Amino acid sequence: MRLPVPGSLRLRFLLAVTLWVLLGIGAIWFSAVRIFSQHVEQSYHEELEVHVRELGGLTEIATDGAIVLTRPLSDPRYSIPLSGFYWQVTAAGHAPLRSRSMTRGSLDESIAHSPEILHRLDNGPTGPAITYGFTRKGPAGEDIHFVIATDQRELDRLIGSFTRDLSAWLAGLAALLLATGFAIISFGLKPLDRLSLAFARLRHGETDKLEGNYPAEIAPLAADLNAYIHQNEAMVARARVQAGNLAHSLRTPLAIITDEAERLAERDEYRAAGTALLDSASAMEQQIEYQLARARSAAGKKPSGRGVVVPDVAIPILQAMARLHPDKHFSLDATSCEGLVLPLDPVDYAEVLSILLDNAGKWSRGHVSLSFACDKDASCTVRIVDDGPGIPEHLIGEAFGVGTRFDPDVAGSGLGLPIAEDLCDGMGIELTLTNGAKGLVAELRYAAGSSEQV
Ligand SMILES: Nc1ncnc2c1ncn2[C@@H]1O[C@H](COP(=O)(O)OP(=O)(O)OP(=O)(O)O)[C@@H](O)[C@H]1O
Ligand SMILES: [Mg+2]
Repeated sequence: MRLPVPGSLRLRFLLAVTLWVLLGIGAIWFSAVRIFSQHVEQSYHEELEVHVRELGGLTEIATDGAIVLTRPLSDPRYSIPLSGFYWQVTAAGHAPLRSRSMTRGSLDESIAHSPEILHRLDNGPTGPAITYGFTRKGPAGEDIHFVIATDQRELDRLIGSFTRDLSAWLAGLAALLLATGFAIISFGLKPLDRLSLAFARLRHGETDKLEGNYPAEIAPLAADLNAYIHQNEAMVARARVQAGNLAHSLRTPLAIITDEAERLAERDEYRAAGTALLDSASAMEQQIEYQLARARSAAGKKPSGRGVVVPDVAIPILQAMARLHPDKHFSLDATSCEGLVLPLDPVDYAEVLSILLDNAGKWSRGHVSLSFACDKDASCTVRIVDDGPGIPEHLIGEAFGVGTRFDPDVAGSGLGLPIAEDLCDGMGIELTLTNGAKGLVAELRYAAGSSEQV
């Protein structure tokens, strides 16, 4: 079972089920204890009433005036010393008769003041006691007081032991209900888990639509999403083509403008206007080249389900670089990452590597090193180190601007780094440039689970 995360549907259900079970079990516990206490109290009272009647029936005044019982009471607890069960018969002019259990103290006979059986909570020989009593006339017309009492703690003990047993049972039942509730939630949310897995595969480029069968409640959502994805892909592709077409269609008029501006700049009276026009035209040309390069790279992109295989992704690029910069030596170190697959688009990733390796090749004096350092959780840092002049520290931030170039002696259009940054943003990769001990160090940092889109 997956652990619920804050804000998740699973956590909401778990909290709701827990609350529901606790409320239900709490209500059962409360009502059961109440009902049981009432029943026990009632049966105790009935029993005491029967006993006091029995006491009345068994009592006689002997000829010598002594109060006697024709036989002992049927409940043996009245014979056990200080058992909590007591009786007493008193009458004016006669010695009182008490149960054998009452080895000390006496019962208050004031409750027995009427022929009707009355009861109340009194103090008995061993603590608070439920006391029943009534009177009857003796042979000489005297009042005989019959009193019977049972310790309140007997009742409390019974209710207490019931409450303990009930609590244990209900705790077990609550645990069972919670466990089954959690299992039901897991089972019910399974299709959503499958949907999120399907999403992950879609994002990693393993599929080009949401796959799988879903319950009636989710199936329309999956179908709508698939339709939306399809529509979106077509829209993005169209937009890229249109951006490419637009950039392309602007090229010729821009070439004419540049041509005219150059001619203006040659004439002294229009030199300032001509130069301003040339600067703007050059900025526009860079933007056009950038858009065309992005449109070209997107058009050549095929969806791939493989992800980036390290270091395989770098091998063909290094071969191309060796041909492009034959006087430079490129080395590769990927010992800690052999066979690692990053869930990223291999085409975009390869393009970023190409741009950075091409730069390193262009500016290095002789040696470029490419190294991969990976963690077990598929986080990967790539370092491309050259032994060239690097970039002045205060200009590093500007290197990512479209058309920015610091070295007019080396051919280029200043589009490589902005394109690389754009692609890295899309993949959730952090791209940094720093000046190392020998030359420029380009670092690509990818943390597992951080890819935005593939
Ligand atoms: N490894 C490097 N060493 C020294 N300077 C570099 C390095 N990489 C980039 N630069 C500087 O940053 C500028 C921008 O690089 P970028 O890749 O965007 O453009 P480019 O290489 O000049 O042209 P393009 O890549 O479009 O062919 C470069 O012109 C160069 O001045
Ligand atoms: Mg470049």
